[in-house]
Amino acid sequence: MKFEKLSAKTINLRLVEPSDADFIYSLRNDELFNKHLSLTSGVVGDQKKWIEKYKEREAEGKEYYFIIQRLDNNHSIGTIRMYDFKDNPASFCWGSWILNKDKTNSAALESALLIYNLAFKSLSFEQSHFDVRVNNEKVIGFHKKMGAEIVSENDLDYFFIYRKDVFLSSMAKFNKFLVG
Ligand SMILES: CC(C)(COP(=O)(O)OP(=O)(O)OC[C@H]1O[C@@H](n2cnc3c(N)ncnc32)[C@H](O)[C@@H]1OP(=O)(O)O)[C@@H](O)C(=O)NCCC(=O)NCCS
Repeated sequence: MKFEKLSAKTINLRLVEPSDADFIYSLRNDELFNKHLSLTSGVVGDQKKWIEKYKEREAEGKEYYFIIQRLDNNHSIGTIRMYDFKDNPASFCWGSWILNKDKTNSAALESALLIYNLAFKSLSFEQSHFDVRVNNEKVIGFHKKMGAEIVSENDLDYFFIYRKDVFLSSMAKFNKFLVG
């Protein structure tokens, strides 16, 4: 799939390549960022193999994994991934969401908005489903502020739904983060 330019005010998204294995490995193994993520085992070579398998799922339109880059210097500053695509209702999960210290102030919001914009306007999804660790208060707050709803929970996670109509009705407020 060829995407239109996935670019916002200060960042853009580009599809992950096997050559990003070093960056992703160091991001996921940095204790500053991985407290609330599933553990990545193995070595950089395993990460590269994982990305090569992922590229097959990407080619089938089953999953999209992006590097978040700063627009001012093209440095890679994080990752974000769409996966677990479902029908009736058309729903996608997103995660692998990490930003390093080189992020811009609004990179979190911009990257989430770019994913929702792509999913709801180009890929015809009706909603997003995702889970957040119950102790990841900051990220829970982020999703609630966006208008996502907690639909269930267990000891480990809150399960959220974010609907297309909520996104579309917030567009006027968010446009300034999407336009460069
Ligand atoms: C998850 C992660 C990418 C979020 O990035 P972040 O920069 O911490 O995100 P923030 O919630 O601070 O949001 C960034 C800014 O956007 C603002 N913002 C967030 N939602 C907003 C909204 N709906 N409207 C306007 N502004 C908003 C925030 O207030 C914040 O601005 P501030 O710094 O001036 O307060 C980052 O914390 C991270 O890498 N965490 C480790 C990995 C992780 O836990 N991933 C999630 C697994 S579910």
